[in-house]
Amino acid sequence: MSQSHATEQGHVYQNFIGGQWRASRGGETFVSTNPAHTSEVIGYYQKSTAADLDDAVEAASKAQPGWAATPAPERGEVLLRTALLLEQRKEELATLMTREMGKILKETRGDVQTAIDVAKFIAGEGRRAEGETLPSGMRNKFCMTIRQPLGVVGIITPWNFPLAIPAWKTFPALMAGNAVVLKPASDTPLLALKLAEVLNEAGLPEGVLNVITGPGGSLGDALASHKRVSMISLTGSTEVGRRVAGICGRDLRRCALELGGKNAVIVLEDADLDLAIESVVWGAFGTTGQRCTATSRVIVHKAVLPEFSDRLVAAAEKLIVGDGLDPQIEMGPLVNMGRVKAVHEYTEIGRQEGAKLLTGGARLSDGAYEEGAFYQPTIFTDVLPEMRIASEEVFGPFISLLPISSYEEAVQIANSTRYGLSTSVFTESSRLTFRAMRDIETGLLYFNAPTTGAEIHLPFGGTKESGNGHRELGSGAVDEFSELKSIFVSYPTRP
Ligand code: UN1
Repeated sequence: MSQSHATEQGHVYQNFIGGQWRASRGGETFVSTNPAHTSEVIGYYQKSTAADLDDAVEAASKAQPGWAATPAPERGEVLLRTALLLEQRKEELATLMTREMGKILKETRGDVQTAIDVAKFIAGEGRRAEGETLPSGMRNKFCMTIRQPLGVVGIITPWNFPLAIPAWKTFPALMAGNAVVLKPASDTPLLALKLAEVLNEAGLPEGVLNVITGPGGSLGDALASHKRVSMISLTGSTEVGRRVAGICGRDLRRCALELGGKNAVIVLEDADLDLAIESVVWGAFGTTGQRCTATSRVIVHKAVLPEFSDRLVAAAEKLIVGDGLDPQIEMGPLVNMGRVKAVHEYTEIGRQEGAKLLTGGARLSDGAYEEGAFYQPTIFTDVLPEMRIASEEVFGPFISLLPISSYEEAVQIANSTRYGLSTSVFTESSRLTFRAMRDIETGLLYFNAPTTGAEIHLPFGGTKESGNGHRELGSGAVDEFSELKSIFVSYPTRP
């Protein structure tokens, strides 16, 4: 039943369906390689088909009533054991993750830690109240709400947080009494399979979590349109989100989307520049810029722009880029060679638009970099809000500096994109702090801190085209995956 913990080159991984490791009915596999050394194979994964998806949904439907009937505190126990197992395997999983998608060990440890934290946080939900009692407008009548599972939840996850995002969607979905079919990104299937392995070991009944790997387009569409799937939870690009929402919309299926961002840092005249520079470096180049919360626009007051940009460029040029397994490396590769090309296109676009390239702007390909998807930390300045590099998500180590002369102008530019996920403001003024709290169109707002680094017990999600109004994590995490039932009990007294 259980897979080997070791990852050998060329290992063929199977889907996890109904508590069994199973090959795809189609018999095809696909390969995943290490983006720091693209000739290193991480593993072969099942190229699943619609028939495999049907098997997974069927296994989930069969298992769901029994799981829903399991007392919530017991469901919580499974998650607590999962947290403890993940803790034991933290280093092993972080190392696999660095090899699988490239981000540095410090960050992959953080990714595993997020999964551990969510498991502990949600485990406790098993003993918390899940409805309300309310007064009735009538005599001799009692009113309350209860929460019930949705049934089978389909979860589609991206490659930038290979364990954290599958965990933070799956754990609350399970806590609510649902069964899950999880489809991880094809760049990072391994950690989702490891998650299934750990939940299985923690005692999750068979069929309650099913993981199938394979092409996002066809499997995503099949999952989103499956008649027995009650909800889709997806983190991905705005384009994919729009497509999945369209499919779900036709069937009136619940659909929770976490999508792109074009996250701004606002550096006002009175900002602590040391803090601002450190935060922009981490927010923009951490995870090689591949976070939906990554810093992508830096809106800087003209009075401090020359000093800020000189020091920022110096800090970016000092970053040590390389294989994230090496402890001295500060920025790993992009997730694959396709992303190198996509990021480089934005460098070309920035040049054509007339922005000024301050540093970076090229693939790193000499010597040790030759086989990897490495790109230089890239900074453009003199960027205007209407340029494409100031409005489209790049998803790489790439920032645009936009000069402003007032708080009002900063807010106007910050709000001028179609996204609204994360924003941060550097100021020492409490007056402007409170105005920014009111004025900025964003789901996450930081002061004197990077745009990344959300904490799991606060709601996570964005406004405008960064999502469709749902929030994950936080105290409402389990509610997202359940249905409310309002109950009215009359107990008339007869004379
Ligand atoms: C994402 O990039 O998809 O706040 C999520 C952060 C992380 C989550 C990012 N905790 O950057």
